[in-house]
Amino acid sequence: MDKRPEAHFKKPRMEHTKIKHHLFSETLKVSLYIANNMARNNKYMNFDSYAYIDLFAGSGKFKDDSKGSPLIAVDIAANHLKYKGNVFNKIDLIFIEKDKQNADDLKKNVGLELKKYNLEILKNLRVQIGDESWEKYDIEKILNGSTWGFIFADPFSTELKLDNLKTTLKNCSKYKDILIFANFNTLARQYARGHNNDIQRICEFLGISENKLQENIDFPETFIELLKNKFKSIKDFSIGVAIPISVEQKLRAMDYFYLVLFTSSVMVGNMFLESYEKEIEQYRSKEKSLFCNQDDEPLLGLIKENKELSLYKIWEYYQQNFLSWKKIVNDSNLRVPTLKNITDIINNFKNNCLLEIVADEKYFYKKSKNKIGNIKPNDIRSMHDLKSIKIKNK
Ligand SMILES: C[S@@+](CC[C@H](N)C(=O)[O-])C[C@H]1O[C@@H](n2cnc3c(N)ncnc32)[C@H](O)[C@@H]1O
Repeated sequence: MDKRPEAHFKKPRMEHTKIKHHLFSETLKVSLYIANNMARNNKYMNFDSYAYIDLFAGSGKFKDDSKGSPLIAVDIAANHLKYKGNVFNKIDLIFIEKDKQNADDLKKNVGLELKKYNLEILKNLRVQIGDESWEKYDIEKILNGSTWGFIFADPFSTELKLDNLKTTLKNCSKYKDILIFANFNTLARQYARGHNNDIQRICEFLGISENKLQENIDFPETFIELLKNKFKSIKDFSIGVAIPISVEQKLRAMDYFYLVLFTSSVMVGNMFLESYEKEIEQYRSKEKSLFCNQDDEPLLGLIKENKELSLYKIWEYYQQNFLSWKKIVNDSNLRVPTLKNITDIINNFKNNCLLEIVADEKYFYKKSKNKIGNIKPNDIRSMHDLKSIKIKNK
């Protein structure tokens, strides 16, 4: 990754950036879709707009013409506005880029992209581009203009101060999803170098004192803990995944970057994981075990310990740890904990009489469905009413 902000976009998009953009794009789409459905069902809320804010927007395009996050967001928002049945009839897109050259390129690229859409759509797609540091804008006021939305923070390395972001978002992100990209390797390198300004930058990024950093330094565990727990007080779930790096357009199977989603929606979290699974599957060997190895699977122990757990609690349990690209790519027994994979494991254990499922009958399949993956009668569906499905010790 090039440290000079303009140089980054003057090169073709790297393979790992493509993975980041796929995850970002699928998550933003589902966030808008879910918000649209919730807004439709909730008549008492201000539901006429959705806001997307990109705090580190970049220039919008790479040398190979592939799109950066702002242009991806333009496409998603414009496609949403095409359908008259959708609830949001206005979408605000706010792009902030502090580098002057990148901000100028972004204005040009967004202008060209918008030309693809008709006047009706353009009237309802409100785009604003800021060309100073995001900290100079009243983000809280901007975001409070819409109940629903999405915040993307995608710095190169330590330009982000997580505590500043948390203070900014505390009172304006209740129904908004937050996605943060973090360059773990740069942090680890800066820490190893240990210059005063390196240490200060890491402390500011993570929002901890120098003393705490020195006493706690157990990279990557400390880093992961601090990052994952940062927004715990404002969002129900934090789901973190590792992304590898590409060198000369070849991916190296290592955990180099991290992407963390903070959301209060199981559906949004699940789509993030499904997209991650889709990306990772392309790099795994095809010999996947159909069912997990019972000895490596923590679920049975967990149920034994608690006697009974809701599917919601099980879902929470599986999202505790960061998902390692390196481990999942190399171990065919490991699976991304999507709702489908979790219910597959539960059904498999239930069919082997190792646990019991207690739920309303509408949550069970009545007939086998071999075409969609070996489903047997009385298998549980990957439903989203997770609190009402209980898994019991047998
Ligand atoms: C990794 S790039 C963003 C890439 C973009 N999100 C994408 O997916 O195409 C980070 C960008 O953030 C900009 N930047 C750095 N600090 C910033 C700040 N405090 N406020 C706004 N932009 C900033 C840099 O100039 C750089 O263009």
